[in-house]
Amino acid sequence: METTATAPGKIILFGEHAVVYGRPAIAAPVSGLRATAVVAPGDTPGVLLRTPDLGHDRLLAAADDEDPIAAVVRAVQRAAALPALPDLCVTVRSAIPIASGLGSGAAITAALIRALAAHLGLPALQETAALSDLTYEVEKLHHGTPSGIDNTVVAYEQPVYFMRRQPRNLIETFAIGRPLTLLIADTGVRSSTKAVVGDVRRQWAAEPDTFEPIFDGCGGIAAAARTAIEQGELPPLGRLMNENHRLLQRMTVSSAELDEFVAAAQAAGALGAKLSGAGRGGNMIALVTAERETAVRAALQEAGAVRVMKTVVE
Ligand code: PMV
Repeated sequence: METTATAPGKIILFGEHAVVYGRPAIAAPVSGLRATAVVAPGDTPGVLLRTPDLGHDRLLAAADDEDPIAAVVRAVQRAAALPALPDLCVTVRSAIPIASGLGSGAAITAALIRALAAHLGLPALQETAALSDLTYEVEKLHHGTPSGIDNTVVAYEQPVYFMRRQPRNLIETFAIGRPLTLLIADTGVRSSTKAVVGDVRRQWAAEPDTFEPIFDGCGGIAAAARTAIEQGELPPLGRLMNENHRLLQRMTVSSAELDEFVAAAQAAGALGAKLSGAGRGGNMIALVTAERETAVRAALQEAGAVRVMKTVVE
């Protein structure tokens, strides 16, 4: 019997980067974009890893430390203290564009942990908090110092208000007063979260008096945005997105394409727009009303978006 599990992509609505420095942020799942993992009994010895969209099949025993799928299987084996794994065939696919701020890495990891935990009968790892924690452990291997927001939203599959804290992060779900219709526009430019986060860290270390107030500004915006979302006040929420984008520009994580898309969406009547995720490429998001949705989509395509997706946060 094979076991299938999935996990969604995500967008950061408010507070990327500042969240690494302990300020609150808001993220939401993109349920229409998913990673899928299938675990089946193996018909050859060992654990066969298959990623048909990305490349060759390989055996776990031969996979190096950089192999992201092997890293997940090893993390599950370690977490469950399994001395050995049965012969397995593990297949992972994802509809989430990689390196574009949509959380493809966290989604692939979470889907595979879910599938392995179900297949191997490990109920503790199927609980949301444990799934999120183990996804975080794997994200750390690839990203250095992730805030934890990606694994949280992907594992909880609900909009979350998140703050990085010791000993436990603050994770709150909250009411959505009115559905948020968002267009997600892809610049087509791939960007390394690790590189951008590292560059922000270097700038912050060199100029803390400049960066601390920017991070404070983002945190204040995220807190105000939560209230606006709860109360269903969409025009103020849109203005908060515009403001957050300006602060991200000051962190130097925007790009010519992202700025152009944001301006195009605003000019076409979006309530607000900002980059989403690490920046310097990847995706931007625009909050739209039903009346302006078509015009904003057309403006983003005209501005060069390689694709425009719609998601509703509710
Ligand atoms: O992986 P991305 O592109 O969604 O970026 C993650 C958000 C950051 O705040 C930039 C990093 C983090 O770990 O929170």
